[in-house]
Amino acid sequence: MTENGLVVSHVYKSYGAINVINDLSFTVKEHSITALVGPNGAGKTTVFNLITGTDPLDSGMVSWKGTVLTGLKPYVIARHGVARTYQDLRLFGSMTVRENVQVVMETSFKDGFGHRKKMIRERTDSILKSVGLLGVGSRRVEELSYAEKKFLSLARLLATTADLLLLDEPASGLDSTSQGDFVTFVRSLPTHAKTVCLVEHNLELVRNLAEEVIFMDSGYALRKGRPEDIMKDPELGAIYFGGVHEDE
Ligand SMILES: Nc1ncnc2c1ncn2[C@@H]1O[C@H](COP(=O)(O)OP(=O)(O)O)[C@@H](O)[C@H]1O
Ligand SMILES: [Mg+2]
Repeated sequence: MTENGLVVSHVYKSYGAINVINDLSFTVKEHSITALVGPNGAGKTTVFNLITGTDPLDSGMVSWKGTVLTGLKPYVIARHGVARTYQDLRLFGSMTVRENVQVVMETSFKDGFGHRKKMIRERTDSILKSVGLLGVGSRRVEELSYAEKKFLSLARLLATTADLLLLDEPASGLDSTSQGDFVTFVRSLPTHAKTVCLVEHNLELVRNLAEEVIFMDSGYALRKGRPEDIMKDPELGAIYFGGVHEDE
């Protein structure tokens, strides 16, 4: 496989008798922003679990920049540059903001020279600045607002050297000001050589951000295309807004 970017090819996954992912294929171009949308239970988070190796897939193939990830352990997949956020954030609540970033960096940023501490401090500052958290670096995470925690989970991705960032509902629960900050931040990622695949329910936000949208339902990729084309499709609208939409 020599294809660039993220390739998800004919992937299947069942939990017991339930087929959660069915012949799912899509690609994400390097240095682009792609959104996975679809009703709750469509299988979006499962796709991230399969890409990162948290869950093994039943059949099919996943590759990133030409390296087949299928069957590799999660930490090996992470070393190939794949990182994600979680819907439930998974931060270290009793540690400071700064420590939450540094703990990721310690393992991924191997410098080995004398100025390591200083470099880590400077890099942490620059990452916290980019997500607007420099001023709260010494606060404990449990004291942060919800929006600050969401931005910290993004900061932690930047602290790794990962170049494929999988964001699971990163903007859910953000007020409109924070959503604006979020859009600005994510838009800047491709210019820093990052590739973004995000799950997002807010279609206005998706329209502002994504170059391509994959619309999923029941584990199938029903449509792929530009946000404006996907969103005017009445069939998809009925699927998306027809069912009961519960917040997770
Ligand atoms: N580990 C698991 N065991 C059993 N069922 C699961 C597991 N993970 C996900 N599912 C099921 O797979 C379906 C898709 O879930 P998920 O990927 O979380 O959907 P989405 O993120 O699109 O809301 C749901 O019906 C969910 O209950
Ligand atoms: Mg989900």
